[in-house]
Amino acid sequence: MTADQISRDVLRMLPGIIEVLSRSGRREGALASVVDLILDATGADACFLHRWDADERRLRMIAASHPYDALVGRIELAEGEGVAGWVAKHRLPVVIARDKWSDPRYKYIPELGGDRYTSMVSLPAASGRGRLMGVLNLHTVDEREFSGDDLEFLTATAALVGAHLEAEELIEATLAKEAELEALVQSTLAAQEMERRRVATEIHDGVTQLVVAALYRLRAAQALVGTEHDAAGELKTAIRLLEDAEQESRRAIRRLRPPVLDDLGLVAALRELAQEASETLEVEVRAPRRLDLDATVELVLYRVAQEALRNVAKHAQADRVAISLDVDEDEVRMAVVDDGRGFDVAEAFAVREGASYGMAGMRERVEMVGGTFRVASEPGKGARIDVRIPR
Ligand SMILES: Nc1ncnc2c1ncn2[C@@H]1O[C@H](COP(=O)(O)OP(=O)(O)O)[C@@H](O)[C@H]1O
Ligand SMILES: [Mg+2]
Repeated sequence: MTADQISRDVLRMLPGIIEVLSRSGRREGALASVVDLILDATGADACFLHRWDADERRLRMIAASHPYDALVGRIELAEGEGVAGWVAKHRLPVVIARDKWSDPRYKYIPELGGDRYTSMVSLPAASGRGRLMGVLNLHTVDEREFSGDDLEFLTATAALVGAHLEAEELIEATLAKEAELEALVQSTLAAQEMERRRVATEIHDGVTQLVVAALYRLRAAQALVGTEHDAAGELKTAIRLLEDAEQESRRAIRRLRPPVLDDLGLVAALRELAQEASETLEVEVRAPRRLDLDATVELVLYRVAQEALRNVAKHAQADRVAISLDVDEDEVRMAVVDDGRGFDVAEAFAVREGASYGMAGMRERVEMVGGTFRVASEPGKGARIDVRIPR
């Protein structure tokens, strides 16, 4: 066999590698096949492929020829550790034809059977844009000078593997994004569902009760008309109940979609909430004159303030509550602080089946626009809600 022939034979294997790597689907399978193809093409005896984790700066073995395939996922090397670690650090190929034991870069890893092999080559596998994606190692039992052809083939293969690993990474990132979006949709739906339940409860406890009571009075009045009983008194009561019902339903509608936000902006809307709550509490609103926030962020802050005030009124037995807003180039911050009896925060966040969703709902709304939601409270020491939303 002439050198020329070897070269052609070896390079003829490249399309096979390209084919295996471009097959989508069974992805781990693809790399295992590539490792086998590399052994076929080069006549080497063992082949390892490590993926470079750029965040942790470590190599992890992701494919190996038999019998080392059983160790996939279990071998890790730090940057600079062993020949592969050296290659990852310096991004240069290394060929060690003989006497690897005296090479300071070599590290004996008993599981990988280094004592069975004599010569080795280790190459960086980079992405098309030159980012290190992995390291490819090849070992031979007999001593071997790796030829120019071998290296040409291995360099091309390493480039293909690098491109493949990058594609895999992109696919994984895309899938993760997709899952994140899916989760967001789910939580939006859950929040919507809870909001519907809240509205249903509100209408049931508010307007419906009043209407039922008014009907009762009206029926009584109807029966009394023409008798000497006080029909006028019953009618008067019924009218008052229906007036309350009208107000109650207007209030419920306003809570569903606060037109005040669009008409007057967040600060005025918060003052209106404060006004509503001030029947039982002293409410203070501190805010800059102009805010200039995104409409969605305004709505989130409004809803959080609304629920927070509702909670203070309902649970806190507080005398005072303060809502403060402030804004800079990076973020908007809102705090709602009361001086009530406080509570156990972890317990309040637990969404119990069929129970209230107030706390979890506030947090969800804030996180949906990329913000953070914190609650601090201790029994007897009031409560404080802090919202930060990036602009
Ligand atoms: N400002 C507060 N002061 C005291 N307790 C509070 C306060 N906010 C929330 N809580 C407690 O946290 C619990 C959960 O609140 P939430 O999820 O809004 O449900 P709900 O208001 O329907 O009970 C409340 O039941 C209450 O015990
Ligand atoms: Mg609540």
